[in-house]
Amino acid sequence: MGEKILIYHLRDVVKTRETEGAAFRLRVPSLQIALGEKIALIGESGCGKSTLLDMLAMILQPTEVGSFRFRPERGGAPMDISELWARRKYNRLGDLRKECIGYVMQTGGLLPYMNVRENMSLSRRLLGMPSDGTVEALARHLGIERHLNKLPGLLSAGERQRVAIGRALAHRPSIVIADEPTASLDPIAAERIMSLFIELVEELNITVIIASHAWRHIERLGLRRLSHQSQRLKDGTTESIVTG
Ligand SMILES: Nc1ncnc2c1ncn2[C@@H]1O[C@H](COP(=O)(O)OP(=O)(O)OP(=O)(O)O)[C@@H](O)[C@H]1O
Ligand SMILES: [Mg+2]
Repeated sequence: MGEKILIYHLRDVVKTRETEGAAFRLRVPSLQIALGEKIALIGESGCGKSTLLDMLAMILQPTEVGSFRFRPERGGAPMDISELWARRKYNRLGDLRKECIGYVMQTGGLLPYMNVRENMSLSRRLLGMPSDGTVEALARHLGIERHLNKLPGLLSAGERQRVAIGRALAHRPSIVIADEPTASLDPIAAERIMSLFIELVEELNITVIIASHAWRHIERLGLRRLSHQSQRLKDGTTESIVTG
């Protein structure tokens, strides 16, 4: 049978954050995500979902690392991400992020002065990929084709979320990370957009990691749920542990 390829393999990764006296610590004793998997990261507000996603997206440097390996391509060798951080290879980390990862941000993150087509084409353009109709096809799939020439400010919250999803997928990354991609929507719209999103990543064979506090919405879509436990330590630190 085919070998199971791990896109992420983390061991003993810790991120510590201090906010006005109250410390927060996220601990990941072990995390393995296989190529093509669909992952749900579920937990209440403040438990560290965005913190973990930012580390997986190589935006945020872990405070301590046992090991952090990343293998975005089937044929490629696993890369040592902790080594890249330690040696301050920020350009290399940035290139990896651009090429391999699509990020649907919690706040949408669309550029207000660019129209929908330009927003969705941005990562393709930065990577020197051609305008070959990929963006238009995605827009059609997401039901936002008629908005391609509009600025994001003229769209509804749900339409903007669809654009953000399209933008994260347009350069065909091997992995898409989505931070509460439907947070600002009513439950029915949220469910519809989430199903569409999962349908698309399955079709494009993209690994997906979605953070949400609403497990109910995504339970039916067949995602693997990462377990998440939070506790208050004696010194007042909130410690959150993720495994999976
Ligand atoms: N830039 C930052 N600097 C310092 N502390 C931060 C920073 N961002 C978040 N934190 C703290 O880290 C903890 C985890 O935050 P995080 O944003 O990862 O939670 P979350 O699970 O994504 O929450 P939500 O569901 O509200 O988005 C919180 O206690 C928060 O106050
Ligand atoms: Mg968050």
